[in-house]
Amino acid sequence: MFEESVERSQSNSEKYQKREKLFGTSDVLPLWVADMDLDTADFIVSAIKKRLEHPIFGYEQMPNSAFQAQINWMKKHHNLELRREHMFFSPSVLTSLNLLIQTFSNEDDEIIIQTPVYGAFATSILANNRKVIENPLIEQEGDYHFDFEDLEKKISPKTKLLILCSPHNPVGRVWTKEELLKLASICLEHRVMVIADEIHCDLSFKKHTPFASLSKEIAENSITLLSPAKTFNISGLAISTMSIDNQELREKFNKTYKATYLGEGNLFAHVAFETAYTHGEAWLNALKKHLLENISVLKQQLKENNSKIKFKSPDATFLLWLDCRELNLDDEALHQYFISKKLGLSQGILFGTQGRGYMRLNIAISKKLLNFIKL
Ligand SMILES: Cc1ncc(COP(=O)(O)O)c(C=O)c1O
Repeated sequence: MFEESVERSQSNSEKYQKREKLFGTSDVLPLWVADMDLDTADFIVSAIKKRLEHPIFGYEQMPNSAFQAQINWMKKHHNLELRREHMFFSPSVLTSLNLLIQTFSNEDDEIIIQTPVYGAFATSILANNRKVIENPLIEQEGDYHFDFEDLEKKISPKTKLLILCSPHNPVGRVWTKEELLKLASICLEHRVMVIADEIHCDLSFKKHTPFASLSKEIAENSITLLSPAKTFNISGLAISTMSIDNQELREKFNKTYKATYLGEGNLFAHVAFETAYTHGEAWLNALKKHLLENISVLKQQLKENNSKIKFKSPDATFLLWLDCRELNLDDEALHQYFISKKLGLSQGILFGTQGRGYMRLNIAISKKLLNFIKL
């Protein structure tokens, strides 16, 4: 099923469109943006085509059946109890994140992120004139852990939010229940609200624990951001949800939400969302198997070549966090090193200074494209 994929360079794909600008050449395989160079599942494409047969594309509401499909999926796959009346449509997780920052913090307030982490967390905080407080993860032989001691030290009366990346992009960790409980208890004690970005949860190879499933008290001190975009490769359809269990927080957020007129999304997105969550299980299992095969091919390649590049197989995500420190190259030289191998990757420093010496490689590609990777 994932042997080959459709050619994207002539579509408006962001990772191909910006290739020349970022890498100075179009002669690289762009493996930076976190979407998949794998065809979206045929049952999703068919459902959208069916909707096209109804030739009126007027205003629509996101149907309750679509929300219900996500509720059922999250219960079945992650044992999370979502409630329709707590959920909001949002075109993207980053839209939600920015609206939440605006609602639940003020200018100059502090927001904690756990670096190295998805770069848009810091840029969103800064764009809203809040302060980024880094609580770097601890790295031990390729494995990453929370630094609770540092977290407690960093929290001040100005700290309002912590943005949790679970599973974690780029280090690929699925946080354990114990780790999340400890984090949650520190945040509760210091009245720091947690925004749990769980966009990668369905791409876990280990058991993912939703933050809001830990306890009622923890759910009430957090907001969960979910999306089928990564899982089913439908980022271009612009659909996600957020769930706010705490009534007081929900009422406060509702005021922001009303003032945005975000609407309820694109009618094709509603169809794709509901179809993915209703019929996507078998396809997702096949995808995960394919991703694990790609990971193991690259592991083997590094071993056979006695490479100085290392990576730990991720617990989740289709992103490999390549430790290139033994190459002893500075940021620009490392970037150029991969360009010379005709690969356009994300530089580790984009995830925080702790990412220096690392590169992020997206392995959600077909078997055919995988053959181009020579690390
Ligand atoms: C952790 C994380 N959150 C959010 C996003 C972006 O999601 P969206 O396109 O829904 O804003 C990404 C994309 O790579 C991501 O890795």
